[in-house]
Amino acid sequence: MLKGVIFDLDGVITSTDEFHYEAWLELANRLGIKGFNREENLKQRGVSRMESLEVVLALGTKKYSENEKIAFANEKNEIYKKLLEQMDESYLSKEVYDTLKELRKRGYKLAIGSSSKNTKFILSKIGLRDFFDAISDGNNITHSKPNPEVFLKAASMLDLLPNECAVVEDATAGIDAANAGGFVSYGIGPASVYDKCQVSIHSFKELLNTL
Ligand code: BG6
Ligand code: MG
Repeated sequence: MLKGVIFDLDGVITSTDEFHYEAWLELANRLGIKGFNREENLKQRGVSRMESLEVVLALGTKKYSENEKIAFANEKNEIYKKLLEQMDESYLSKEVYDTLKELRKRGYKLAIGSSSKNTKFILSKIGLRDFFDAISDGNNITHSKPNPEVFLKAASMLDLLPNECAVVEDATAGIDAANAGGFVSYGIGPASVYDKCQVSIHSFKELLNTL
Protein backbone atom coordinates (compact mmCIF):
# COMPACT_ATOMS: atom_id res chain seq x y z
CA MET A 1 0.00 0.00 0.00
CA LEU A 2 1.27 3.47 -0.84
CA LYS A 3 1.88 5.63 2.22
CA GLY A 4 3.90 8.49 0.78
CA VAL A 5 4.24 10.66 -2.32
CA ILE A 6 7.53 12.22 -3.42
CA PHE A 7 7.21 15.09 -5.86
CA ASP A 8 9.76 16.48 -8.23
CA LEU A 9 9.69 20.31 -8.03
CA ASP A 10 10.55 21.93 -11.38
CA GLY A 11 7.77 21.18 -13.86
CA VAL A 12 5.63 19.25 -11.35
CA ILE A 13 4.82 21.51 -8.39
CA THR A 14 5.50 24.74 -10.30
CA SER A 15 6.61 25.85 -13.77
CA THR A 16 10.21 26.86 -13.04
CA ASP A 17 11.25 24.62 -15.96
CA GLU A 18 10.31 27.60 -18.18
CA PHE A 19 12.78 29.87 -16.32
CA HIS A 20 15.50 27.20 -16.58
CA TYR A 21 14.94 27.19 -20.34
CA GLU A 22 15.11 30.99 -20.65
CA ALA A 23 18.30 31.18 -18.57
CA TRP A 24 20.10 28.45 -20.54
CA LEU A 25 19.00 30.06 -23.80
CA GLU A 26 20.50 33.38 -22.70
CA LEU A 27 23.81 31.66 -21.84
CA ALA A 28 23.81 29.71 -25.13
CA ASN A 29 23.27 32.93 -27.09
CA ARG A 30 26.05 34.70 -25.21
CA LEU A 31 28.45 31.85 -26.02
CA GLY A 32 27.36 31.94 -29.68
CA ILE A 33 25.96 28.41 -29.46
CA LYS A 34 23.17 27.80 -31.94
CA GLY A 35 20.60 25.02 -31.83
CA PHE A 36 19.58 25.19 -28.19
CA ASN A 37 15.80 24.77 -28.27
CA ARG A 38 12.95 23.22 -26.30
CA GLU A 39 13.79 19.75 -27.52
CA GLU A 40 17.36 20.06 -26.22
CA ASN A 41 15.94 21.55 -23.01
CA LEU A 42 13.95 18.35 -22.40
CA LYS A 43 17.29 16.54 -21.94
CA GLN A 44 18.08 18.93 -19.07
CA ARG A 45 14.99 18.05 -17.06
CA GLY A 46 15.84 16.29 -13.84
CA VAL A 47 19.62 16.35 -14.28
CA SER A 48 22.08 18.49 -12.30
CA ARG A 49 23.16 22.01 -13.21
CA MET A 50 26.58 20.86 -14.49
CA GLU A 51 25.04 18.05 -16.58
CA SER A 52 22.51 20.54 -17.96
CA LEU A 53 25.42 22.77 -18.99
CA GLU A 54 26.93 19.85 -20.93
CA VAL A 55 23.70 19.62 -22.98
CA VAL A 56 24.26 23.24 -24.09
CA LEU A 57 28.02 22.92 -24.68
CA ALA A 58 27.54 19.73 -26.75
CA LEU A 59 25.81 21.93 -29.36
CA GLY A 60 28.96 24.03 -29.81
CA THR A 61 32.43 23.17 -31.03
CA LYS A 62 34.67 24.76 -28.38
CA LYS A 63 36.22 22.82 -25.51
CA TYR A 64 36.23 24.55 -22.13
CA SER A 65 38.22 24.00 -18.94
CA GLU A 66 36.53 22.86 -15.70
CA ASN A 67 36.90 26.38 -14.25
CA GLU A 68 35.26 27.95 -17.30
CA LYS A 69 32.40 25.46 -17.03
CA ILE A 70 31.87 26.30 -13.36
CA ALA A 71 31.79 30.00 -14.29
CA PHE A 72 29.17 29.32 -17.03
CA ALA A 73 27.01 27.30 -14.64
CA ASN A 74 27.21 30.13 -12.08
CA GLU A 75 26.35 32.67 -14.78
CA LYS A 76 23.26 30.67 -15.76
CA ASN A 77 22.26 30.32 -12.12
CA GLU A 78 22.46 34.11 -11.61
CA ILE A 79 20.19 34.67 -14.64
CA TYR A 80 17.85 31.95 -13.35
CA LYS A 81 17.71 33.38 -9.82
CA LYS A 82 16.80 36.83 -11.22
CA LEU A 83 13.92 35.19 -13.10
CA LEU A 84 12.85 33.40 -9.90
CA GLU A 85 12.55 36.76 -8.10
CA GLN A 86 9.23 37.45 -9.85
CA MET A 87 7.68 34.32 -8.35
CA ASP A 88 5.06 34.55 -5.66
CA GLU A 89 2.14 32.45 -4.45
CA SER A 90 0.37 32.90 -7.79
CA TYR A 91 2.96 30.43 -9.20
CA LEU A 92 1.32 27.69 -7.14
CA SER A 93 -1.85 26.66 -8.95
CA LYS A 94 -5.06 26.05 -7.03
CA GLU A 95 -5.18 22.57 -8.56
CA VAL A 96 -1.75 21.64 -7.17
CA TYR A 97 -2.43 23.19 -3.75
CA ASP A 98 -5.89 21.62 -3.36
CA THR A 99 -4.55 18.22 -4.43
CA LEU A 100 -1.64 18.40 -1.97
CA LYS A 101 -4.00 19.34 0.86
CA GLU A 102 -6.39 16.50 -0.04
CA LEU A 103 -3.52 13.96 -0.14
CA ARG A 104 -2.42 15.12 3.30
CA LYS A 105 -6.00 14.77 4.54
CA ARG A 106 -6.01 11.20 3.24
CA GLY A 107 -2.96 10.49 5.40
CA TYR A 108 -0.13 10.37 2.83
CA LYS A 109 3.28 11.62 3.89
CA LEU A 110 4.49 14.17 1.34
CA ALA A 111 8.04 14.99 0.25
CA ILE A 112 10.03 16.84 -2.39
CA GLY A 113 12.72 15.00 -4.35
CA SER A 114 14.41 17.54 -6.61
CA SER A 115 17.88 17.86 -8.18
CA SER A 116 17.71 21.63 -7.73
CA LYS A 117 19.89 23.50 -5.27
CA ASN A 118 17.31 26.31 -5.42
CA THR A 119 14.51 24.08 -4.08
CA LYS A 120 14.00 25.76 -0.69
CA PHE A 121 14.13 29.25 -2.19
CA ILE A 122 11.45 28.30 -4.76
CA LEU A 123 9.25 26.63 -2.12
CA SER A 124 9.47 29.82 -0.02
CA LYS A 125 8.44 31.93 -3.01
CA ILE A 126 5.28 29.88 -3.63
CA GLY A 127 4.36 29.59 0.05
CA LEU A 128 5.22 25.90 0.52
CA ARG A 129 8.49 26.20 2.47
CA ASP A 130 7.01 24.53 5.56
CA PHE A 131 4.40 22.34 3.88
CA PHE A 132 6.25 19.10 3.11
CA ASP A 133 7.20 16.40 5.61
CA ALA A 134 10.64 16.11 3.99
CA ILE A 135 12.75 17.93 1.42
CA SER A 136 15.50 16.08 -0.41
CA ASP A 137 17.25 18.27 -2.99
CA GLY A 138 20.37 19.05 -4.98
CA ASN A 139 22.19 20.02 -1.78
CA ASN A 140 22.09 16.58 -0.15
CA ILE A 141 22.97 14.31 -3.07
CA THR A 142 26.13 13.32 -4.87
CA HIS A 143 24.46 11.59 -7.84
CA SER A 144 21.79 13.27 -9.93
CA LYS A 145 18.76 11.52 -11.51
CA PRO A 146 18.60 8.93 -13.17
CA ASN A 147 20.42 7.77 -10.02
CA PRO A 148 17.71 7.15 -7.37
CA GLU A 149 19.67 8.79 -4.51
CA VAL A 150 17.47 11.89 -4.15
CA PHE A 151 14.30 9.76 -3.84
CA LEU A 152 15.91 7.15 -1.56
CA LYS A 153 16.91 9.98 0.79
CA ALA A 154 13.39 11.43 0.66
CA ALA A 155 11.83 8.02 1.48
CA SER A 156 14.24 7.53 4.34
CA MET A 157 13.40 11.01 5.73
CA LEU A 158 9.72 9.99 5.60
CA ASP A 159 10.63 6.71 7.30
CA LEU A 160 9.10 4.74 4.42
CA LEU A 161 10.36 2.07 2.05
CA PRO A 162 10.63 2.87 -1.67
CA ASN A 163 7.77 0.50 -2.56
CA GLU A 164 5.54 2.43 -0.14
CA CYS A 165 6.07 5.66 -2.10
CA ALA A 166 4.90 7.07 -5.41
CA VAL A 167 7.26 9.43 -7.25
CA VAL A 168 5.70 12.12 -9.45
CA GLU A 169 8.01 13.27 -12.26
CA ASP A 170 7.97 15.29 -15.49
CA ALA A 171 11.44 14.10 -16.60
CA THR A 172 12.44 10.80 -18.18
CA ALA A 173 15.59 10.87 -16.01
CA GLY A 174 13.31 11.15 -12.98
CA ILE A 175 11.14 8.21 -14.06
CA ASP A 176 14.28 6.12 -14.60
CA ALA A 177 15.49 7.14 -11.11
CA ALA A 178 12.16 6.23 -9.52
CA ASN A 179 12.09 2.83 -11.25
CA ALA A 180 15.72 2.13 -10.35
CA GLY A 181 14.97 2.87 -6.69
CA GLY A 182 11.94 0.58 -6.53
CA PHE A 183 9.32 3.37 -6.34
CA VAL A 184 6.01 3.52 -8.19
CA SER A 185 6.68 6.04 -10.97
CA TYR A 186 4.00 8.53 -12.01
CA GLY A 187 4.71 10.47 -15.22
CA ILE A 188 3.18 13.92 -15.80
CA GLY A 189 3.76 16.42 -18.65
CA PRO A 190 6.56 15.25 -20.99
CA ALA A 191 7.08 12.10 -18.88
CA SER A 192 3.43 11.04 -19.21
CA VAL A 193 4.22 9.71 -22.69
CA TYR A 194 7.41 7.94 -21.57
CA ASP A 195 6.85 4.20 -21.90
CA LYS A 196 8.81 3.45 -18.72
CA CYS A 197 6.48 5.37 -16.41
CA GLN A 198 4.29 2.99 -14.47
CA VAL A 199 1.30 5.33 -14.22
CA SER A 200 0.65 8.13 -16.66
CA ILE A 201 -1.34 11.16 -15.47
CA HIS A 202 -2.51 14.09 -17.55
CA SER A 203 -3.24 16.50 -14.75
CA PHE A 204 -1.99 16.89 -11.19
CA LYS A 205 -5.42 16.25 -9.69
CA GLU A 206 -5.55 12.85 -11.40
CA LEU A 207 -3.34 11.71 -8.50
CA LEU A 208 -6.46 11.70 -6.38
CA ASN A 209 -8.02 8.84 -8.32
CA THR A 210 -4.88 6.94 -9.34
CA LEU A 211 -2.93 6.62 -6.08
C1 BG6 B 1 16.00 20.06 -11.92
C2 BG6 B 1 15.75 20.61 -13.30
O1 BG6 B 1 14.83 20.10 -11.15
O2 BG6 B 1 17.03 20.82 -11.27
C3 BG6 B 1 17.05 20.62 -14.09
O3 BG6 B 1 14.78 19.80 -13.96
C4 BG6 B 1 18.10 21.43 -13.34
O4 BG6 B 1 16.82 21.14 -15.38
C5 BG6 B 1 18.29 20.85 -11.95
O5 BG6 B 1 19.33 21.39 -14.05
C6 BG6 B 1 19.29 21.64 -11.09
O6 BG6 B 1 18.74 22.88 -10.77
P1 BG6 B 1 19.50 24.08 -10.07
O7 BG6 B 1 18.37 24.99 -9.61
O8 BG6 B 1 20.26 23.51 -8.91
O9 BG6 B 1 20.38 24.69 -11.08
MG1 MG C 1 11.19 18.29 -13.23
